[in-house]
Amino acid sequence: METITLNNGVQMPKAGFGVFQVKDENQCMQAVLDAIDAGYRLIDTAQSYGNEEAVGKAIAQTSVPREELFITTKVWISNYGHEKARQSVLDSLAKTGLEYFDLVLLHQPYNDYYGAYRALEDLYKEGKIRAIGVSNFYPDRIVDLCLNVEVKPAVNQIEVNVFNQQIEAQKWNEKYGVQVQAWAPFAEGRNNMFSNPVLQKIGDQYHKSIAQVILRWLVQRNIVPLAKSVKKERMEQNLDIFDFELSNEDMKKIEALDEKTSSFFSHYDPESVERICGMER
Ligand SMILES: NC(=O)c1ccc[n+]([C@@H]2O[C@H](COP(=O)([O-])OP(=O)(O)OC[C@H]3O[C@@H](n4cnc5c(N)ncnc54)[C@H](OP(=O)(O)O)[C@@H]3O)[C@@H](O)[C@H]2O)c1
Repeated sequence: METITLNNGVQMPKAGFGVFQVKDENQCMQAVLDAIDAGYRLIDTAQSYGNEEAVGKAIAQTSVPREELFITTKVWISNYGHEKARQSVLDSLAKTGLEYFDLVLLHQPYNDYYGAYRALEDLYKEGKIRAIGVSNFYPDRIVDLCLNVEVKPAVNQIEVNVFNQQIEAQKWNEKYGVQVQAWAPFAEGRNNMFSNPVLQKIGDQYHKSIAQVILRWLVQRNIVPLAKSVKKERMEQNLDIFDFELSNEDMKKIEALDEKTSSFFSHYDPESVERICGMER
């Protein structure tokens, strides 16, 4: 798996596998084992996904050495504040059976995220986390954070797909050396993503699927896609994106699909904030 270098020198795979909404323990374990077998090395979980134990069991079972894997988890809002965040990461380590995480992110930009971030900084200095970062931090929040912390976030995981391309957001993240990861690169199939005629036509030229065109487009933009599938043939397909290159003309055609709006919700919308902050971990 090709890697990119984060702002602290740590190598991170160029494409990752996510386990959001894979709640059944056996299914999650099998999905992670299949993903590793397919060639994935970056596995993205979160405290709120309820499957850190299953991810840990798969890591314990695989023959791929721990140091070749890149394991991410995310701290949920109800665990924010310095002490709670620290304890929650130690609990996540215990659940997964790991001695360290490669990356820990703050999942949402709400509640006492500065306190939580300082806990990540401490755990980073203690060697329990190799890189720290955030998720869903829009440009104003990421700039504020970068200007006021000691250890700069290495990663910001945000929604990026062809309908929500985040071109401005990427510029702000890159200005501060923050690597963008794309969640929901397929928008979970919303907006008829998998039958979009523009993407289909582009894919036909390269003998690649729409999913592969989307993931390749992200990689060419220097964004690390996190795709989810519980089907091994799709996992293999979603990794088979390093043997072709989209032309500038095709990149422009995809750029024209940008609607600059989320397929899910805006983190600025007060009702979404109420809903997210009310979610139990
Ligand atoms: N930080 C955040 O707030 C946040 C939010 C959402 C997601 N994430 C992360 O990002 C990861 C990916 O996002 P996501 O799971 O929401 O959605 P996604 O990856 O955009 O879409 C997943 C959907 O696409 C289908 N699919 C996958 N590969 C396919 C292919 N080659 N052809 C056709 N269909 C395909 C999957 O079905 P099957 O499983 O049936 O194949 C599933 O229904 C998550 O798992 C999670 O790790 C983070």
